[in-house]
Parts: sequence; structure tokens; C-alpha cells
Amino acid sequence: MIRLAPSILSADFSKLGEEIRLLENSGIEYLHADVMDGHFVHNISMGIPVIESIRKMTDMTLDVHLMISNPEMYIENFANAGADIINVHQEACVDGILSVVKSIKRLNKKAAVTIKPQTNYTSVLDILEYVDMVLVMSVEPGFGGQSLIPSTLSKVFNLANHISKHNLKVDIEVDGGVNASNISDVLNAGANVIVVGSAVFDAPNKARAIADFNDIIYKFEENHEGIDFWKRRNKK
Ligand code: DX5
Ligand code: ZN
Repeated sequence: MIRLAPSILSADFSKLGEEIRLLENSGIEYLHADVMDGHFVHNISMGIPVIESIRKMTDMTLDVHLMISNPEMYIENFANAGADIINVHQEACVDGILSVVKSIKRLNKKAAVTIKPQTNYTSVLDILEYVDMVLVMSVEPGFGGQSLIPSTLSKVFNLANHISKHNLKVDIEVDGGVNASNISDVLNAGANVIVVGSAVFDAPNKARAIADFNDIIYKFEENHEGIDFWKRRNKK
């Protein structure tokens, strides 16, 4: 199953509730929340109170992307705040990411390992059996509205092949610079959770932008129904 995960970093925070309702009314099921601490990345965005407030007003799957140093210190806070999926950067886990992943799973949340553009995909292969998703950054983390770095899609392709070959049940999320003209490349590489920020929230008509993305995804799934890799990936 391919899903869009709109990133609220690009939303109008003065009417966040309204923006989230629009996503719900457009059939969106995943909400991507970018948490930045001004240390791991050179930006500060939102924290636990925002996740708590969003949790109160929607049943959408909260896909929380932690761009913070020492994420292990905050896993429980974000789990209690209502995160459903907690994405931690492999580069932020100085004592190794496996213990952080295991603590997320112990809290009955989905665990995702995240890698920056310059981090090799091979660095996460040994923990794929423990995670629910790999988040491949297609831009340098820290800001919305950047351009997708095409070379990151070869990491997606290699990860997708490894996951398929080892028959793992791991989603691949791509995050950064995705728009209507490159989403097919992202899907062809093997991603099945697609973050879209500015391409939705900066669009003149947000609902239309989402509908256009959904048309592309629907056609892609129709054309790839027969391929073993996709059939296997879609079986959850
Ligand atoms: C960047 C964030 C992304 C970003 C996506 O550090 O992780 O989720 O908000 O926004 P766009 O789609 O505009 O690149
Ligand atoms: Zn993100």
C-alpha cells in the first residue's frame, strides 16, 4: 500500500487544526510531523505540546520525524504525546540505534530508522529486521521547500531490493523535495510512504494537489499490480 504523508512543517501554524481537517477530508491517513531541536539540524520547529494537541484532534497516523540530538531521551515523551511512528536518525544515535529502536517497540509504537542523504544505505541493513520503516531523506534535513537530491533514490532502490530479497516487512519512506513531477521516480525506486510538504501546503489549491498525487499513485499501483516485488510489499 502506497501512502502520502503530508509534512505539517509547511502548514500555516496559525490554523493548524483547519489544515489537518483538510488533509483528513482529502482521505489522507498519515501525518508527518517534523521535530527539530536547533542542534541536530539548524532549525527549530515543534515539540511535544504540538504533538499532544494534534493527537487530541485527529485519528490520523502520526508519523513523527525526530531531527534531534539524543533522541533516546525523548522517545517515551513522544510516545506518550501520541506518536504512532517514531523516526530516529541513525546519525543521532551515538551509542547505536538498535537500543533506541527496541525502546520504541517496547512502547508499542512503530519504529523507523532515518538516514541523511550522505549516509550509506548499508549502514541500516543489520537492523531492518527490527524496524517497521526506513526513512530515506531526499534532502538535507532541516527545512521544507528544498529540491530532491536524485542520487538518494538509488539508496531507495537498493533498500527495496534488499527488503524484497529477504522478504522483510519494512516500509520505505522518502522525505524531501517530492512533487508531482518526481513522485513517479520515487515510486519506481521502491518507496511506499511519500512525504509531501511544500508541494501540498504551498499549492494554490491543497485539496487539488492531494488529488493529483493520489491519481499518480493510483495509476502506479494499477500498473504494478502483477510485479512480485509490489505484490509482496503490499501484503501486510
Ligand atoms: C525536512 C523535513 C521534511 C520536509 C518536507 O527536514 O524532514 O519532512 O518538511 O518538506 P518538502 O516536501 O517541502 O521538502
Ligand atoms: Zn521529515
